[in-house]
Amino acid sequence: MLYKEICFDAMEVVKKAAAFVRERHENRKDLVIEEKGRQNFVTEVDRKAEQILVSGLSGLLPEAGFIAEEGTSTKRGETFNWVIDPIDGTTNFIHGVFPFAISVGLTEHDVVVAGIVYEFGLDEFFYAWKGGGAWLNGQKIGVSEVTSMDQALIATGFPYTNFKYLKEFMHSMDYFMKNSHGLRRLGSAATDIAYVACGRYDGFYEYGLHPWDIAAGILLVNEAGGKASDFRGNENPLFKENIICSNRNGFHEFQETIQKIMLSQ
Ligand code: IPD
Repeated sequence: MLYKEICFDAMEVVKKAAAFVRERHENRKDLVIEEKGRQNFVTEVDRKAEQILVSGLSGLLPEAGFIAEEGTSTKRGETFNWVIDPIDGTTNFIHGVFPFAISVGLTEHDVVVAGIVYEFGLDEFFYAWKGGGAWLNGQKIGVSEVTSMDQALIATGFPYTNFKYLKEFMHSMDYFMKNSHGLRRLGSAATDIAYVACGRYDGFYEYGLHPWDIAAGILLVNEAGGKASDFRGNENPLFKENIICSNRNGFHEFQETIQKIMLSQ
């Protein structure tokens, strides 16, 4: 399999879905919004964009299955699966706030081998393929070089349906507010991770995530010279529901801090 080729072909499919989402975003007054659960929304735009993605990507690699947020296809591939979030940051999308993004990853035996995050606000295409580095709109990107926590800008996502670790999470925010350069919450995990890959953020962590929020991002960070793991430090956090990622210099300190605070019980 030529990972680079499949990544560029998949980008063309993402462009089609993005054109649809952008058009609907500009004319969003009739948006039909459903509540999947408390504070967990889906719109008809998420569903239609996912259909565009699934149908386009099916043509690229017929043997591949899908792990898609809105459940357009439940076909699972033995070797390859596309992991899709048609709009990561749906709440931002609904309110007309940026960022929100399309996130598409391709896994081979559960390892991400191609990944694309397209962020609408800044019109930025982040993409990577295994062994090929990480890219942003045609320029190679890399993680930051910050070495200590007091120089690091950290990003996170606030829990909104899973409050199991809320107390520990509040404690972690307290820690990073006092011991880092600052803490940010944009509302799109895929974008947050892409920002670690290009060095805007030095680290990101969140719990209660799904594979489609992070698949493309995991590869972007790894190919950009950084590292991603779950809170315990296990590599490949794709199905672990929690993630930390950062540059390599600061990873050890960051991961140990998160593990100590978040898994203290
Ligand atoms: C959500 C966003 C948000 C993160 C949530 C995700 P969705 O994705 O990435 O930043 O905090 O955990 O579920 O639901 O908008 O695709």
